[in-house]
Amino acid sequence: MPFLLPIGNNKFNKALTVLIKTPKSYLLKENEVTPENVYLNRRGLLKGLGFLGAGALLSSTSTTASADWFSKDEPTKFKTTALKFQTDQNTDNLILTPEAKITSHNNFYEFGTSKTDPVNNAQGFKIDPWKLTISGECDKPYTLDLDDLTKAFALEERIYRMRCVEAWSMVIPWVGFELAKLLKKAQPNSRANFVAFETLHDPQQMPGQASRRVGGGINYPYVEGLRIDEAMNPLTLMSVGLYGKTLPAQNGAPIRLVVPWKYGFKSIKSIVGIKFVEQQPAATWNILAPNEYGFYANVNPEVDHPRWSQASERRITSGGLFARNRIDTLPFNGYGEQVADMYKNLNLRKNF
Ligand code: MTE
Repeated sequence: MPFLLPIGNNKFNKALTVLIKTPKSYLLKENEVTPENVYLNRRGLLKGLGFLGAGALLSSTSTTASADWFSKDEPTKFKTTALKFQTDQNTDNLILTPEAKITSHNNFYEFGTSKTDPVNNAQGFKIDPWKLTISGECDKPYTLDLDDLTKAFALEERIYRMRCVEAWSMVIPWVGFELAKLLKKAQPNSRANFVAFETLHDPQQMPGQASRRVGGGINYPYVEGLRIDEAMNPLTLMSVGLYGKTLPAQNGAPIRLVVPWKYGFKSIKSIVGIKFVEQQPAATWNILAPNEYGFYANVNPEVDHPRWSQASERRITSGGLFARNRIDTLPFNGYGEQVADMYKNLNLRKNF
């Protein structure tokens, strides 16, 4: 699988740099997250980044590996951050989804509409050359090429919950940078009320764009949008990797949006265009079925989808006889403390 190279194995991955991040009040220590077998991959990540000699690698079965990530013997340069949840039950909810599930159970209609179509159909997807253009209502529009995506901004890891509007969820360790950093560089002007995003349009590479049947009847390119304050919120991430590796094609390589308090369809993949605009921009699922998918799409257990309940969700896990896979859905997907203020004057039933 060409897009699952560990960091350090190719030109693109080598560009992954690290960030010393100031701890914020809402961040959990990594060892408060239950990892996939103690997130074994991170040992490779550390090594790839040159932080660990072979001798420093931890036993693969050690359950204290994640705590040791922050041990005083090793430089704590690459900080894993996860968000604190609001109720007791939530600690239990923050269990990393196995990497194999994150990369094989996908929604990426450009590659087909079934959950396994993206992993099966995206493996030949070429991301080089790539251009991401930042334009519109700003003083300094600019373009990033593939190399810039990982070099222009220091990268960090963020463990976020992801809640799909279809009522399933995952917990994903992303690698990326805050969207705000990319936006501020363009110096948006006073008319920049919203930010519009656009996915690559390349029917030769994306079978769903070449055939309406394969692509689920969507008019491509896939587009999305955020209000400027949502786009500038420190939780809003541009992701270039997951589980310490380059982002796989099926997850939106080379760069995708991650907005953890909104339904997954807002987190647009394989982005080529970001534009500051004055009016609320078009959003693909909202155009397709405005009564089912709102522009805001904030995770809300109290506002059901017209065809199913949003009160709970099925956690995607590796299974197991005793796995408790049905959990309550939280307002704003558990991130209310950080984002609810942005909506205090908004009727969330009307603006779903
Ligand atoms: N972006 C594009 N361009 N095309 C898509 O079909 N699907 C969305 C979102 N971004 C989609 C997209 C939906 S519905 C979800 S739930 C998430 O991507 C899924 O992300 P994942 O496959 O990495 O879990």
